[in-house]
Amino acid sequence: MHYGADYNPEQWPREIWPDDVRLMREAGVTMVSLGIFSWSRIQPAEGRFDWEWLDEIIGLLHEGGIRVDLATATASPPPWASAAYPEMLPRDADGSIFWPGSRQAFAPSSPVYRRLASELVTALAERYARHPAVVLWHVNNELGCHLNYDYSDSARDHFRRWLERKYASIEALNHAWGTDFWSQRYTAFDQIVPPRKAPYSINPTSVLDFKRYTSDTLLELYVMERDIIRAAGATQPITTNFMGAFPPADYWKWAAEVDVIADDNYPDPNDPESFRGAAFARELMRGLKPGVPWILTEQSTNALNWRPTNPPKAPGQMAALSAQAIGRGADGIMFFQWRQSRRGSEKFHSAMVPQAGLETRTWKEVVELGGQLAQLPDLPDVSSHARVALVFDWENWWAIGGRDHPVPLDYLALAHRWHAALHRLHLSIDIVNTTSDLSAYSLVVAPQQYLLGDEGAATLTAYVAQGGSLFVSAFSDVVDEDDAFREGGFIVGLREALGVALEDFGALVPPETLTTPDSAGETATHIEGDGPGQSEAPLDGPAGRIVGQYLAEELIVQDAEILGRFTEGRTAGRAAFTRKSFGDGHGYYLATIPDDDGMLAVLRWLAGEAGVTAEIEGLPPRVEIARRGSILTVINHGTDPVSVDVPGTDVLSGSTAVRRELGAFGWCFIDTGGVLGAR
Ligand code: GLA
Repeated sequence: MHYGADYNPEQWPREIWPDDVRLMREAGVTMVSLGIFSWSRIQPAEGRFDWEWLDEIIGLLHEGGIRVDLATATASPPPWASAAYPEMLPRDADGSIFWPGSRQAFAPSSPVYRRLASELVTALAERYARHPAVVLWHVNNELGCHLNYDYSDSARDHFRRWLERKYASIEALNHAWGTDFWSQRYTAFDQIVPPRKAPYSINPTSVLDFKRYTSDTLLELYVMERDIIRAAGATQPITTNFMGAFPPADYWKWAAEVDVIADDNYPDPNDPESFRGAAFARELMRGLKPGVPWILTEQSTNALNWRPTNPPKAPGQMAALSAQAIGRGADGIMFFQWRQSRRGSEKFHSAMVPQAGLETRTWKEVVELGGQLAQLPDLPDVSSHARVALVFDWENWWAIGGRDHPVPLDYLALAHRWHAALHRLHLSIDIVNTTSDLSAYSLVVAPQQYLLGDEGAATLTAYVAQGGSLFVSAFSDVVDEDDAFREGGFIVGLREALGVALEDFGALVPPETLTTPDSAGETATHIEGDGPGQSEAPLDGPAGRIVGQYLAEELIVQDAEILGRFTEGRTAGRAAFTRKSFGDGHGYYLATIPDDDGMLAVLRWLAGEAGVTAEIEGLPPRVEIARRGSILTVINHGTDPVSVDVPGTDVLSGSTAVRRELGAFGWCFIDTGGVLGAR
């Protein structure tokens, strides 16, 4: 179990370094991420390297028994680089330059940036590849974090080459993008520009391709550095830190290139429900490389500096969130950063060593957690044994987020809401994509899967045929990989498995736009027959009466059983919830997006149908459980004490008492001794 932080010793006089190492040992730190933003210190001028300070600090850490996750330092080019090569600076869609003075001011596609980064990484890797302190390599940092999309001229050129590789001929691109509409037909790749500011709606397939290009281009940077490190003879694992469900990077694709998944995660202490979003991120990370433990490379010990307001974490909350990560497969708990900065943009960000000193709650909690982690046995088995999977798909996210749709849908927010409902039911959940191996799951939930490729449609259809229960809800299977409608209407890819088609999407007034309270102070809901302004679509079905939002689709039921019907509004009486028996399984379709209570009711009913039960029944709402092999993690994310019955042995205390008392943010790891069956 790694324990540690980003370590930025160049901020501090050298006299402090030995003290840092001593305190690290006191806190139980085992590894630090070193040099993430050190480029300007390592390379003060082009062609000149200063290794002396880095040699010294790596040596000190090594002597102190602290291992090093050595960063390649390419995340923030030094001022001399952009001064000499201003063409490496990125631009926004308006053509404005992102200037230096902050961090990450480089165009990912820039040939000059790539050359300079390669020279730095080559020198660094040649020097430290065989250093015994270095156990992990950390490429760049949060690739794409601030600069999500770059529209510079180097991006333009790189995008053209990417398109040429993808389409081979301009005719193929014209077909995919549908350029015969609005006179967009290209006769050469060199006429194409990235989706920069334009008079009106930009070709949606070009935007989708630009997002694919951006993810691939950021990944190229990782691969470039990784290959340099390997070529220098490094044998340690190599990674880069992910950011959970981060829009510009399709981590399903990236995962194959990294040796170990690393993730940064900062739940908002102001939001009492944020632990559910954190659980989503951790399940996503576990799923990216099934069977392989991952590392939480960054979280905060306490308050942040970058939200509009930055409250402290509650006492115990930092450890509870750490336990949540371990329970979902993390083998490393790390922070940004080791010692709180005294100057610069992040000086209000908490750290392991607080500016306020060691007589602080933060330091006490840091030392306590380090001690607990040191006691943990090896936890090699990261499998969740989940029988429920939630589909989360970047390509769909990019496409569904486009404009000019029946109703704007925030895919990530919806995925989080569907996940939160499953999480509230205390079900073990894996996060998958449409082409994952689904054979272990009894229930697969695929919400708002607007873009569904041929392979995804075939995988989901085969899953049902082979006995699975697939649940699909509104605005799904609308377009193919080109963001184009398929031949044969809507719901074409899954038609066999679901037995329904669609006449119209039936957009409703989205709940977030309903801001006028009525006389009772309630937000207005209009259901006036087929009149205007309808915002809700109630339906009756096996999960009781639920309320649909966003869309009340007009379904054409071809070959499915009608389980529920809309009761009011313009679709009153029409099918709203259907089931088709297909092969050995069932395909369910819900023609709307329920509110939170509705999601809970539908998923509870579906879990019952699929024979899936919670690991432990009847848990309080803020208590969560996660399974890692034979270990059950039980966490109270609330402030009221709870008691939970879990047979087994407490891994830390050795207690075998079945009743576990958990105070505010209390947690335990219970070794159930392999008595758990599949749930
Ligand atoms: C990111 C970065 C860190 C730091 C933290 C602050 O995760 O990688 O360098 O800025 O945010 O929370």
